[in-house]
Amino acid sequence: MILDIRHVTKIFPGQRKGIFGRTEDFKALDNVNLSIAKGKSYGLVGESGSGKTTLTRCILRLEDLTSGHIQYDGQDIHKLSATDMRHLRSKLQIVFQDPYASLDPRMTIHDIVAEPLVIHKDIVPMTPRQRTERVLELLLQVGLHQQHLFRYPHEFSGGQRQRIGIARALAVNPEFLILDEPTSALDVSVQADVLNLLHRLQQELGLTYFFISHDLGVIRYICDDVAVIYRGKLVEAEQVDQIFDNPSSDYTRMLLDAMPNPDPESSPFRRASSL
Ligand SMILES: Nc1ncnc2c1ncn2[C@@H]1O[C@H](COP(=O)(O)OP(=O)(O)O)[C@@H](O)[C@H]1O
Ligand SMILES: [Mg+2]
Repeated sequence: MILDIRHVTKIFPGQRKGIFGRTEDFKALDNVNLSIAKGKSYGLVGESGSGKTTLTRCILRLEDLTSGHIQYDGQDIHKLSATDMRHLRSKLQIVFQDPYASLDPRMTIHDIVAEPLVIHKDIVPMTPRQRTERVLELLLQVGLHQQHLFRYPHEFSGGQRQRIGIARALAVNPEFLILDEPTSALDVSVQADVLNLLHRLQQELGLTYFFISHDLGVIRYICDDVAVIYRGKLVEAEQVDQIFDNPSSDYTRMLLDAMPNPDPESSPFRRASSL
C-alpha cells in the first residue's frame, strides 16, 4: 500500500464566543481507515461538509491529527522532518476543486506551471531554459499549446484552467495525485474531457489517484475502489462495481438513488472504447 490511513480522527476545537460561551468541538473525521494501492485510483465520495477536504489536508500535513496516523510508502507523514516532508510534497501533489481560485491571476501560465520546479529545484535541478522546455512539454501533455505559454489565467475557460492546474501538479513527476473535486466546478461536457485526460494521464504515467467527488457517476468512471464518507465516518469501502451492484450501507443506497442515471452505459462519463 502506498498510502495507509489508520484510525484518523480530527477534531476542530470550539471557538470562544462572548464572555462565557464556547461553540462545541467539531469532529470532522471519526476513526477513518483506508489504504490505497500503488497505481490504483481510489475514490472518496460524500456530500458537502462530510470531511473530504479535511482528510486531504491531513494527508498533506496542513492539519495536525487529533489521533491516528497516516503512512506514505511506509513513512509516518506527521513524523517526518521538514526536509523529508518537502521531499514527500514533491511526490504527492494536489489538484484543487476551483480552477478559478487556485491559479494566481497575476502569473503567466509559464510561471504557474514552472512554480513547483522552482520550489523543488534541489530535487529537480534545471536551468531556466530547461524549465521552459519542461513547461511546454507539460502543456502539450494536457492538451494545451505553445501559444498559451505567456498568457494569463483569465484568458482561459474553466476546463483549460483545470488543465493548467493538472500540468502544474505533474511538473515535478509526482507518484501520487490528490484530486479534490477536480471537475465539480465545470460544465458536464467539459467534465467529461477533463476526466478523459485524467484517465489517460494515469495510464501513461502510472500515477496513483486519490479522487474526491460528491458525484458517484464521476467516481465510477475513474476509480477502482471507493470509500463513502458520511459526517466524518467511512460507511463503506469497496471495489467500485461492488458499491453499485450491492451497496452495504443505507447511506450509499441513498446516494445511488439520488443519481440521475446510475446506468454506466448512459452516463456522460462513460469510458469510451476509443480512448
Ligand atoms: N478549520 C476548521 N475549523 C472548524 N471547522 C472546520 C474547519 N475546516 C473544516 N471544518 C468543518 O469540517 C467539516 C468538513 O469540512 P470539509 O472537510 O471541507 O468537507 P467537504 O470537503 O467534504 O465538503 C465542515 O463542517 C467544516 O465546516
Ligand atoms: Mg471539499
